[in-house]
Amino acid sequence: MPEHYDLIIRGGTVYDGSGVAGERLDVGVQGDLIATLGDLSDATGGEEIDASGQAVTPGFIDVHSHDDSLVLVEPDVVGKTMQGVTTVIAGNCGSGVVPYERARDGIMRAMDVPDDFPTWSSYPEYLDVIDAHAPSLNVATLVGQGTMRSGAIGSPSEQRPATEDELAQMRAWLAEGLEGGAVGVSTGLIYEPGRYTSTEELIELAKECARIGGLYASHIRGEGETLLDAVTEAIRIGEEAGCPVQISHHKATGEANWGRVHESLAIIDEARSRGVGVTADQYPYIASSTGLAATVLNARASGNTVNGDRIFIASAPRTPEHEGKYLTAIAEEMDLPLDDAIDRLLGDNSSTVTIVSFGMDEADVRTVLRHEAVMVGTDGLGWGSKPHPRHFGSYPRILEKYVREEGVITLESAIHKMTGMPADKFRLTDRGYVREGMAADLVVFDPATIVDNATYEDPRNAPSNMPHVVVNGTAVVRDGQHTHARVGRALRRG
Ligand code: CU
Ligand code: ZN
Repeated sequence: MPEHYDLIIRGGTVYDGSGVAGERLDVGVQGDLIATLGDLSDATGGEEIDASGQAVTPGFIDVHSHDDSLVLVEPDVVGKTMQGVTTVIAGNCGSGVVPYERARDGIMRAMDVPDDFPTWSSYPEYLDVIDAHAPSLNVATLVGQGTMRSGAIGSPSEQRPATEDELAQMRAWLAEGLEGGAVGVSTGLIYEPGRYTSTEELIELAKECARIGGLYASHIRGEGETLLDAVTEAIRIGEEAGCPVQISHHKATGEANWGRVHESLAIIDEARSRGVGVTADQYPYIASSTGLAATVLNARASGNTVNGDRIFIASAPRTPEHEGKYLTAIAEEMDLPLDDAIDRLLGDNSSTVTIVSFGMDEADVRTVLRHEAVMVGTDGLGWGSKPHPRHFGSYPRILEKYVREEGVITLESAIHKMTGMPADKFRLTDRGYVREGMAADLVVFDPATIVDNATYEDPRNAPSNMPHVVVNGTAVVRDGQHTHARVGRALRRG
């Protein structure tokens, strides 16, 4: 009697996520798990996907996301699912969801949050909310240090050290999060209040990760002149606390600092050779994206000026007519000096303005991508009319440009950086590989023809020739169309 599976993906070349070359195999899925790999010509499938001539890979794990609220506001998470992402790690750059009121002040303000938006009072409750609302992809989360510190101290702009009581409060929130399934703690040390947090205070928090389990992920204290000191600080925090380190969106910004990634990667290599578990992630673009307020704060604090010709507005919720325009053009329109125009823009939008900023070197992007300790994450900010294209095109862009056109890395290495490597680092033990018994998170695409369609001018475009994306055994993208299946779940550590 022929075997039967709920889903069979036939005829594709399977890249299993470990970095080895592809192999021609059929994939049999039963329920939400990969049941078997091999020749399934005699088996039948409740559903069948013809993958001949295509690659079949594990679903991509976006290790650097800010989708904490987006997955609830826009549960299809189109920008991510259509580019093959089946799991996001939310809560990066110090920006988390506890305490709730602070989270609401922060990232939620950037979007139009509906009236019936859910509430929660802890990380375990947040993860339950994710399960109850089930977006189209899986969500794991980091505990954001910045949000906690703002909550414990009462304000993000307080520059003093935390008191013993305040530190105890942060430690308690973090422990509750880690015990409830968060995968680590994140910091954003160019932002308020991260920038006012001492290394010692961060080590105290990282010790909770060492004690309970979880990693220290950091948007480090500087990515320009102070890049090397900042990398060294992140490594020291992990090493003294005894927990693994993830350096977020690794790069060197500002022309004077281009090429410094060779030195920063050498520091990472040196730490790895001492046994420190330090890795990094990257999005494949020469432009970054962040808040205008933080960018201005950092420029002014270091005596630099903002370059209005290299920065355009991604999102300005109260003055959307500015989205897509460069700061220089906006200043001209307002008939104001650049600094005054920026202040007005921030004032009109209660400081919630995101930007896209061109500051990196293409050669550095390649150097970082090639490094063995670097994996892929988008850092996508999926709101506004001109968000950075990374939210929609990071994975196809690597597959089209850096694998196929430029040969910077091999296809199997790229897939490893998108799947198995992130799963290992963030200890998502049942994902990241196409193997029997693993969760059936799968992507089918054609490496020879995949095209990234997300541009700076027109970012909200899905790739071409990535027809199928499966989450927990169910297609969320089928024949290039989103199915609106809401089959994602909260992923809890361990
Ligand atoms: Cu980030
Ligand atoms: Zn960041």
